[in-house]
Amino acid sequence: MSHQVTNLPADLLEGFAIEVFDRCGLPREHAEAVGKSLVLANLRGVDTHGVARIPGYVGRFGPELVNPRPRFEETSRFPWAVAIDADNAMGPVVAEHAMKGALARAASFGIGGATVRRSNHFGAASLFALQAPPEGCIGIVMSPASKSLAPYGSREPLFGTNPFAVAVPAGRHAPWVLDMATSVAARGHIRLAARRNEPIPEGWALDAEGRPTTNAQDALGGVMLPFAGPKGSALAMMVDIMGGVLAGSAFAGAIRDMNTDFEAPQDVGHFFLAINLAAFMEPHEFAGRMEEAIARLKSLEPAAGFDEVLYPGELEARRTQTRLKEGIPLTPEVVKALVGVGEELGVPFPYIEAAAQHEPAARE
Ligand SMILES: NC(=O)c1ccc[n+]([C@@H]2O[C@H](COP(=O)([O-])OP(=O)(O)OC[C@H]3O[C@@H](n4cnc5c(N)ncnc54)[C@H](O)[C@@H]3O)[C@@H](O)[C@H]2O)c1
Repeated sequence: MSHQVTNLPADLLEGFAIEVFDRCGLPREHAEAVGKSLVLANLRGVDTHGVARIPGYVGRFGPELVNPRPRFEETSRFPWAVAIDADNAMGPVVAEHAMKGALARAASFGIGGATVRRSNHFGAASLFALQAPPEGCIGIVMSPASKSLAPYGSREPLFGTNPFAVAVPAGRHAPWVLDMATSVAARGHIRLAARRNEPIPEGWALDAEGRPTTNAQDALGGVMLPFAGPKGSALAMMVDIMGGVLAGSAFAGAIRDMNTDFEAPQDVGHFFLAINLAAFMEPHEFAGRMEEAIARLKSLEPAAGFDEVLYPGELEARRTQTRLKEGIPLTPEVVKALVGVGEELGVPFPYIEAAAQHEPAARE
C-alpha cells in the first residue's frame, strides 16, 4: 500500500469538518467546536485524534448513539465548581463548554473545576487544557476511555488509554503542554501497524493469551500495556477516578468502545481544573520564572542522537507553525474515508474540489 500523503490547507479541512457535523444535525456553533478541535489536533501533529476520527464520530449518529442537540444540566454545589450532565453530547462540544465554565470560576475564585458525565470521546486532551493559558490559568484535563489496557499485573483489560493533559502559560514561549495517554502507545499506532503488516515494538501489548507480542494483529486481539509498569497503571486509574468515579460517569471498564459497540451511548466522563496564576503570584512574575525554567532546560547539552532539548509542547507548537504554512498531511486511507463520508452526507471533500479546479490549468 502506498504511504504517500496529500497535504491539505487547514482552513479547507476545517470547513469540510464543520459542514459534515452541520449535516449530522448539530447547531452551527457545536459543529464548529468539533471541526475546529479535530483540525487543531492535526495542526499539533496528533493525527490519531484529528480528522481521521470523522468517520468514527459520524458513525454514531445513524444509530442515535450521540445527541446532536444536547441540553446540558449543571449543578453547582460550591461556587468554584460545576458538575455537568452532557445529555450524551459530542465530547469536544461539552469539553470546550466545561473548560470555559471552569475558567470563568477561576477568574472569580482563583480556582475553577468542572466534571462532565454522559459524554463521548473528546479527542486530544490538550485542546481543552490549552484554553487556560490565554486566561492566565493552568489547565488540567483528564478523561477515561473504553477498556483496552491491562492494569499492572493483569492480562485482562480494565482501563482505557486514559489521557491527561496539563497546559501552563510560558511567558513569551508557546505554552508548556503535557498531553499523554497512559498506555505505552496510542492504540491507533497498533491499528496502523496492523494495516501495514508491520511489527510493533516490544512492551506495547500482550496477545490474547497474555504473552508479550510484537505482532500488531495479535496485539489488537489482546491488551495494551500501561507505560512505566505500576506507575502508568496507577495514573490510568487516577484518570478513571477523576473522570469516571468522581464525574458520575462510567468507570472501571464500563465505557463503551466508540468503534465497535453500537448497543448504547459511550457514557464517557471528563474532569477539568483551572488554576488562576494570580492566586499565588503576579502572572508576569510567573512568566519570567517559566522563561527561566525553559531557558535552563534548553541550555543543557543534548544527549547522543539529539540535536536539542525540547520542553513538552514545543514540538507540537512548531508543527502547528509548519502545518499552517504547508498544510496537513493526510494518508490515502484517511482521504478515502473522508471522501466516503462526504459523499454520504453531500459534502464534497475539498481535495477533490481543489484537484478539479486545477485540472483546466494542467491541460493548458
Ligand atoms: N480521548 C481519548 O480517549 C484519548 C485516549 C488516548 C490518547 N488520547 C490523545 O492522544 C494523544 C497522543 O498521546 P501520546 O501519549 O501518544 O502522546 P505523545 O507520546 O506524542 O506525547 C506525550 C508528551 O510528550 C511530549 N513530547 C513528545 N516528544 C517530545 C520530545 N522530543 N521532547 C520533549 N517532549 C516531548 C509531548 O509534548 C507530550 O506532552 C494525546 O493528545 C492524548 O490526549 C486521547
